[in-house]
Amino acid sequence: MDRIAITGGARLQGEIPISGAKNSAIKLMAASLLTEEPLRLTNMPRLADTRFLGKLLQRLGTEVVESDGEDGPETLLRTREIVSAIAPYDLVRQMRASFNVLGPLIARTGQAKVSLPGGCTIGARPVDLHLQALEALGARIDLHEGYVYAQAPRGLQGARIEFPFNSVGATEHAMLAAVLAQGETEIANAAREPEMVDLADCLNEMGAKITGAGTSTIHIRGVARLHGATHAVMPDRIETGTYAVAAAMAGGEVRLTRTRVDFIQALVDKMAEAGVEVTPHNDGLTIRRDGAKLQAVEIDTAPYPGFATDLQAQFMALMTLADGESVIRETIFENRFMHAPELKRLGADIMVSGGEARVRGVETLEGAQVMATDLRASVSLVIAGLAARGETMVNRVYHLDRGFERLEEKLSACGAQIRRISGEGETEDE
Ligand code: UD1
Repeated sequence: MDRIAITGGARLQGEIPISGAKNSAIKLMAASLLTEEPLRLTNMPRLADTRFLGKLLQRLGTEVVESDGEDGPETLLRTREIVSAIAPYDLVRQMRASFNVLGPLIARTGQAKVSLPGGCTIGARPVDLHLQALEALGARIDLHEGYVYAQAPRGLQGARIEFPFNSVGATEHAMLAAVLAQGETEIANAAREPEMVDLADCLNEMGAKITGAGTSTIHIRGVARLHGATHAVMPDRIETGTYAVAAAMAGGEVRLTRTRVDFIQALVDKMAEAGVEVTPHNDGLTIRRDGAKLQAVEIDTAPYPGFATDLQAQFMALMTLADGESVIRETIFENRFMHAPELKRLGADIMVSGGEARVRGVETLEGAQVMATDLRASVSLVIAGLAARGETMVNRVYHLDRGFERLEEKLSACGAQIRRISGEGETEDE
């Protein structure tokens, strides 16, 4: 298995173009199941997760063609017919978001059999809200032997779906299913992440009638069929925030392009409070930090527009070198501090108790062998390595490859001493 070696201490200087958003791209790909016409997605990230989903979609009957368009990577998806409405365990297990094919399969064919995603390293992550939404739309759901069997022989019916709390995946799933339902659907207490807007925009370009995405109430007027479209995937806000924190950690000046600063406003506010200079521009933002010490600040993760849970690990890495004590509260997922013991191996002073971590800033971090445990945790170790004395070796980087496109290339173009060491033979399941 590949590893990543980082020699800390180099300041970063340069420009990093941000890729299309992984979390949006995989839901947009699933939307291609809803029409027999082609869906062309531009600004596509090329990641292990998009490849996984491509494989699953091909199994269901989608032609998937990747190419390099004028404006970067593109994927053309076309599902002339669903050849199988079964999403098997071995594919859903590899990526939880594959579960989101369930709604489109029922909407298009009236039935589906999709594996439950199973456990996950960042907590239980059930799918009860997804299933409640589909049931509200009239699907009959049965669970047997780890599979969801869903049926809606007379099609889905519009309904009022009220979520007890915000769920990104369940809101997207409800939208993906309701666009072809008969009648009106209202999703109350919907997630408000920018990915909701991206998905609704794409579905509307395909002929859907969705309003209110990005607010807590989404209205959908069902249509009989959808058609093809071309849609540009939104910029990855988590990649944007990750490189912003990396630049702050290493020091120097980095311009992040092809992205939007408003997507990471909560992070930008906290970085400014910590003493990092952030300058927005038309195409993104510039991060600058000279030698001055960072100040410890507190964060609580929260649904958008709050501080993203997917940036919590990276921010914790930054706080390991701040002046004073930072309190970091994780409110979205239980068990999302697996990076803390690894950061401690680099010399960080962190105490975790329940959903709260107290990070006391230290003078220096020192390179060591560390292990990636999930996608965002692993990138926090890379960030820490950028500022640690000596060499940090991040093992198990397949997690990084799921969500960060050409990470070592993007960072080394700005002067980071980072390289990939190819491993052979070993593979590991998630
Ligand atoms: C998505 C993102 C993930 C991000 C998360 C929160 C993708 C592929 N992943 O994950 O990177 O960290 O949003 O911003 O887009 N829950 C239930 N029942 C359900 C669904 C969720 O209890 O049926 C709980 C979860 O366990 C969690 C909370 O709701 O505690 C929020 O999860 P959710 O917003 O659904 O996250 P995902 O869509 O899985």
